[in-house]
Amino acid sequence: MRKTIRCAGRLRPPSRRDSNEFCLGSAVGRFERSFAEICGVRHAIGVNSGTSALHLALLALDLGPGKDVITVPSTFVATVAAIRYTGAGPILVDIDPERFTMDARKLEAAVTERTAAILPVHLYGQMADMDPIRQVAERHGIPVIEDAAQAHGATYKGAAAGSTGRVGAFSFFPGS
Ligand SMILES: Cc1ncc(COP(=O)(O)O)c(C=O)c1O
Repeated sequence: MRKTIRCAGRLRPPSRRDSNEFCLGSAVGRFERSFAEICGVRHAIGVNSGTSALHLALLALDLGPGKDVITVPSTFVATVAAIRYTGAGPILVDIDPERFTMDARKLEAAVTERTAAILPVHLYGQMADMDPIRQVAERHGIPVIEDAAQAHGATYKGAAAGSTGRVGAFSFFPGS
């Protein structure tokens, strides 16, 4: 089924013929502001890929060897790769067979003193069940990073993907 994203026109960069900007520049700034507005967040920062966005979000949490990040086995390889790039260990919590996203009922049992982040993956345009995930995270004081690479424009109880965790990472690979 083909789904049209209404914001596409607003995000289209202007012609570059009249400027010498080659990379980054004002078009990226406009895109970042538009995308932040669409997600209902204060800031959006453009990087080279969804993988790098995840990696940078995890590095910002000072992750490394000796720490763990809880995520799901049903995702694209980049989710676990980004965790491993920091030196931290991925801990996999199974998915809910109804939603195909992190099963929050199994999350609490996976939390240990090494857990430094929880990384639910919003898959196929459907967001993870964020309320119970965030409840566990808040109880243990652990930040939530959203892998929203496949969830542009998705919402959960009115909140946009990318706005329900500390950081949300998106991919603009055409297949996403
Ligand atoms: C769930 C998920 N996470 C992360 C990524 C990585 O994004 P990128 O290919 O832009 O690095 C993808 C890409 O398809 C993805 O589907």
